[in-house]
Amino acid sequence: MKPLNIVILAAGKGTRMYSEKPKVLHALAGKPLVQHALDCAMALEPQQVCVVYGHGGEAVPQAMCQYPAQFVVQEPQLGTGHAVQQAMPHLPDAGRTLVLYGDVPLIQPNTLHRMQQACDGLVLLTVNLANPAGYGRIVRNAQGDVIGIVEEKDASAEQREICEVNTGIMLASTKALRAWLANLRSNNAQGEYYLTDIVGMAVQQGMVVHTVQPAHEWEIHGINSKQQLAVLERTWQQVEATRLLAHGVTLADPARIDVRGKLSCGQDVEIDVGCIFEGEVSLGNNVQVGAYSIIRNAAIAAGTIIAPYSSIDSSEVGANCRIGPYARLRPGSKLYDDVHIGNFVEIKNSEIAAGSKANHLSYIGDSTVGSRVNIGAGTITCNYDGANKYRTIIEDDVFIGSDTQLVAPVTVGKGATIGAGSTITRDTPEGELTLSRSKQTTINGWKRPTKEKK
Ligand code: UD1
Ligand code: CA
Repeated sequence: MKPLNIVILAAGKGTRMYSEKPKVLHALAGKPLVQHALDCAMALEPQQVCVVYGHGGEAVPQAMCQYPAQFVVQEPQLGTGHAVQQAMPHLPDAGRTLVLYGDVPLIQPNTLHRMQQACDGLVLLTVNLANPAGYGRIVRNAQGDVIGIVEEKDASAEQREICEVNTGIMLASTKALRAWLANLRSNNAQGEYYLTDIVGMAVQQGMVVHTVQPAHEWEIHGINSKQQLAVLERTWQQVEATRLLAHGVTLADPARIDVRGKLSCGQDVEIDVGCIFEGEVSLGNNVQVGAYSIIRNAAIAAGTIIAPYSSIDSSEVGANCRIGPYARLRPGSKLYDDVHIGNFVEIKNSEIAAGSKANHLSYIGDSTVGSRVNIGAGTITCNYDGANKYRTIIEDDVFIGSDTQLVAPVTVGKGATIGAGSTITRDTPEGELTLSRSKQTTINGWKRPTKEKK
């Protein structure tokens, strides 16, 4: 394939978003619109990517600085042709240039590959719409050859009847594009430099203009308002749900799952309603995810059951674990196999080895917990002294009684038992019972205070 440059137009203001934020930084499926376009661009392995931005100061280049792209400002914005002109000085002459849009997030690499394979000349991505209103129309001659694109505002009544529209995405020889752009005029209804005028120029030079249609209509949907954003979000979530179902995942309701990233699933995975998956999540065979759970950047091994309303962030969970309901695994948690984490238990930056359990109302932070440990209800690792954080080590086969505070740094030796209600401030010996409790006393005849009459 010929070397490829990609220009992403992202200078539009997005007035109809009614937002301070540049339109292309609003998120679809958890990712800024322009980032979708950039990811698609990168998948084509281009020699150069150029993002043309305008509104919002440096917000767009700053938000996308992790990409090896050129960011070029377009100020003022005099039309799509003018926008591509701004990119041209940054593009090598070799090969071709593809124009994408920062507000058309769902374009797929496959469709763009087909454009690359179509021919050497000018290639337009077009689509037939039942309602073509607002789009530039593709004008063909009697032989069916493309002879130009006419913008709706410049179109005759007859041309407005045309249902084949310009998606805006096009591919051209970089050298030819450079020459055509230099000849654009703004003598049209909007007083803009139209990128679309290059089509007429190509035809005048005797060049054949090819058209390719996208595999799915949603690929070319642009975003101009929060309504369109919400609709395209649902469309994409439906695509994700269909993909999961096709893969054999059981979804309680395909309309009630949100995948904001990449979700990969083994066999016989079941996902109840209202779950959200963010970043990279993998679910092993037979994993069950209970209703309204939120899982971000996590790997859950086979056979684990996540009960409803659980939150798992940047953590690893072993096989056959029981998590939740209402459990919270914060970043850096690593659970080995057969671990049970119950309701209102928070785990942060801790390792919990196989077969250990914390079933009720606990905080385990900055801890290393061995195997077969039982952590009683209400146990707290006091990992923070207000300035620094310290680790708690709980060795294998320990039993921690309910309502215990472990003041870190502290180690509970192998096989030790901690009596309920203890505050443990020093290391405890292996195999022994340690407790810190004032003796239970009864004050005979003590009376509760009563309310004084005024
Ligand atoms: C453009 C096409 C039209 C096509 C439609 C598809 C032209 C002249 N018309 O029309 O044929 O059917 O897209 O949606 O190309 N932009 C800039 N700088 C500018 C102007 C626009 O970066 O000066 C960007 C916008 O941010 C947007 C894209 O280019 O991402 C399209 O601009 P827009 O004004 O929406 O073009 P349309 O008039 O809709
Ligand atoms: Ca538009």
